[in-house]
Amino acid sequence: MKLRFAFLSACLAAIFVWTGCSKSTPAADDATAPLKVGFAQTGAESAWRTANTNSLRNEAAKRGIDLKFADGQSKQENQIRAVRSFIAQDVDAIVIAPIVETGWDPVLREAQRANIPVIIMDRSVQTEDESLYVAFIGSDFYEEGRMAADWLAAHAGGRTKIVELQGEPGSAAANERRKAFADAIAKHPEFKIIDSQTGNFRRAEGKTVMEAMLKTHGNDIEIVYAHNDDMALGAIQAIEEAGKTPGKDILIVSIDAIKEAVQAVADGRINCTVECNPLFGPKIYDTIEQVLAGQPVEKKMYNQDELFDATNAAAALPSRQY
Ligand code: AHR
Repeated sequence: MKLRFAFLSACLAAIFVWTGCSKSTPAADDATAPLKVGFAQTGAESAWRTANTNSLRNEAAKRGIDLKFADGQSKQENQIRAVRSFIAQDVDAIVIAPIVETGWDPVLREAQRANIPVIIMDRSVQTEDESLYVAFIGSDFYEEGRMAADWLAAHAGGRTKIVELQGEPGSAAANERRKAFADAIAKHPEFKIIDSQTGNFRRAEGKTVMEAMLKTHGNDIEIVYAHNDDMALGAIQAIEEAGKTPGKDILIVSIDAIKEAVQAVADGRINCTVECNPLFGPKIYDTIEQVLAGQPVEKKMYNQDELFDATNAAAALPSRQY
């Protein structure tokens, strides 16, 4: 693949600090071969994730990219195995949506030694050496948590007791959304998080956890803060089955802005959802093409996300793409 040559030149020109830049591969010599990209996805835990997978698959098909997709089934070891198999297949670039933040350095080093650029997508990683990946493309999860908490501070109407449904433990999305919300809430001492448990970003688990919380705390629960819409939608089912009205008896604040949740905001069953745009396909492949052509790219690229509540949800619905 010609682009690999340009990437190698970029390495030699030290545009990127990258080791193992001298390798030439069959793909590098074949100008007609399609770009080969390996994509290590977290799994299929939510509607957001499905939209994210579809975005990368559809855009790859549009561009004639040979996308090698691996579903990590919510296990980091599966993702690491997938990355190793992409290295063995000598792909031109690797995209990882990391399930958890830590534990990536060894496999990132293997990719670097094989001269394969890695893009970290959606969730960030904690690494000793940021040169192990070429770019991060995602949302600012801390900002999302802050937006949710600030909305609540302005609209709680005297309600103060919060239960939190956390995302996958160890994920950047859960860690940052949790911290941002706690930091913002700390400025409003009237609020109290009375319970906080993981629902793993899954609708069924959101429902189960909410059922248990309703049993434990009963009428004390006044607000649900869910780290994603799937868990919020599961919680709503539990609340309705308990004979309460979500959005009124219990305020629901959530993150993702999938179409079903924006509809629930328009219907008054969710009070607010903060967008987390999953449609990374075009940006991911633009970035890979730039990297392989030896062009510099920004190290960290963040989406601009919006917030939907009763004031704008209905108007936004027709143009929601996920
Ligand atoms: O990492 C992004 C999060 O992962 C989304 O908010 C959630 O729905 C998904 O599963």
